Amino acid sequence: MTPLRIGSIEAASPVVLAPMAGITNRAFRHLAREYGGGLYVCEMITTRALVERNAETMRLITFDPDESPRSVQLYGVDPKTVGEAVRMIVAENLADHIDLNFGCPVPKVTRKGGGSALPWKKDLFTSIVRTAVACAEDLPVTIKMRKGIDDDHLTYEWAGKTARDAGVSAVALHGRTAAQHYSGQADWSAIARLREQLLDIPVLGNGDIWSAEDAIRMVRETGVDGVVVGRGCLGRPWLFHDLQQAFEAYAADPSRPSVDYQPAQPSLREVGDALVRHARLLGEFFDDEQHACRDIRKHVAWYFKGYPVGGELRHRMALVESFAELEDLVGQLDPTVGYPGADVEGPRGRAGTPKQPHLPDGWLDSDHLNERQAELLREAELSVSGG
Ligand SMILES: Cc1cc2nc3c(=O)[nH]c(=O)nc-3n(C[C@H](O)[C@H](O)[C@H](O)COP(=O)(O)O)c2cc1C
Repeated sequence: MTPLRIGSIEAASPVVLAPMAGITNRAFRHLAREYGGGLYVCEMITTRALVERNAETMRLITFDPDESPRSVQLYGVDPKTVGEAVRMIVAENLADHIDLNFGCPVPKVTRKGGGSALPWKKDLFTSIVRTAVACAEDLPVTIKMRKGIDDDHLTYEWAGKTARDAGVSAVALHGRTAAQHYSGQADWSAIARLREQLLDIPVLGNGDIWSAEDAIRMVRETGVDGVVVGRGCLGRPWLFHDLQQAFEAYAADPSRPSVDYQPAQPSLREVGDALVRHARLLGEFFDDEQHACRDIRKHVAWYFKGYPVGGELRHRMALVESFAELEDLVGQLDPTVGYPGADVEGPRGRAGTPKQPHLPDGWLDSDHLNERQAELLREAELSVSGG
């Protein structure tokens, strides 16, 4: 398999770290990049907060000096603000790639018409994508979307073609509708359909890749040019090692039914050490040890999923207050415990049940915005948190 080319940028592996709000910050990307090549997308940045130079947002859009390409995901609902944000990124040389988020299923966002509700409004979607591409000059712009609102209101085929015609450099599809949230299984056949229809640009597949084998299987089954990996790498940044190795083996002999590579199989202590390292990188990112400790707490269960760690130790790690305390707790992990195998593998992170999407009144009645909906959309960028 050839490297992933998105416009002028290239990633050594056809692997994209899915943007995840609250997760894929500079610290997590640093850790993940140590394990393998790919395109590592930052957590979502709201365009309004960026143009207003919100202090927290300006932190989110920072990269390590050696991070290349620098990939930003923008979330915006207003073409004018999206354009301003993209122009700012270009003028101030803040990134090398811009992804646009059209997949967020969070009710407080879709209720106002944003995220995964937005591609339903053809005029607005077209205008946002065209504006972003026009303002990006030479920077490649991509979109990331879901299949649609629900099975009766699918948008991905139309949105993919429209984005391609507007000049995007790649399209990523998460094979779920907004109504599915993170439940059930991602529909890879929709990804294959999109791949067939957009022959002239890269199509990236997303949803339910839990191992390097899954990634290769997605490529084989759908023909995608690259895979986008989200929850599978939570607490498992070494998955990027597996992905790189597996894609190299696959490239060497695509006809072999199974890929020959050596997966990372960290011992319990190695996992503990990675957790501490992650916490320290968060400390540098936030420039605040306490903030880093609060943030690392949510990662504890992911790192130790499937490993035998006593409830008391887990509990204390999930309340950690300082790096010294975390190191002390990690020092108490049993040094004789190796890789537990299957218990570590398979699904992790959010799952849940399908939910009737919350949409503005009358949203599905027309594929064009009315005045009232346009007014509501102005609030759709406030307090957004990914998805
Ligand atoms: C905690 C979390 C935060 C997320 N934040 C974003 C986001 O900011 N932007 C986005 O496009 N998708 C976001 N997503 C969705 C993922 O990028 C990805 O599409 C989804 O998890 C499906 O891929 P997976 O099965 O590999 O996890 C988020 C997912 C999770 C679990």
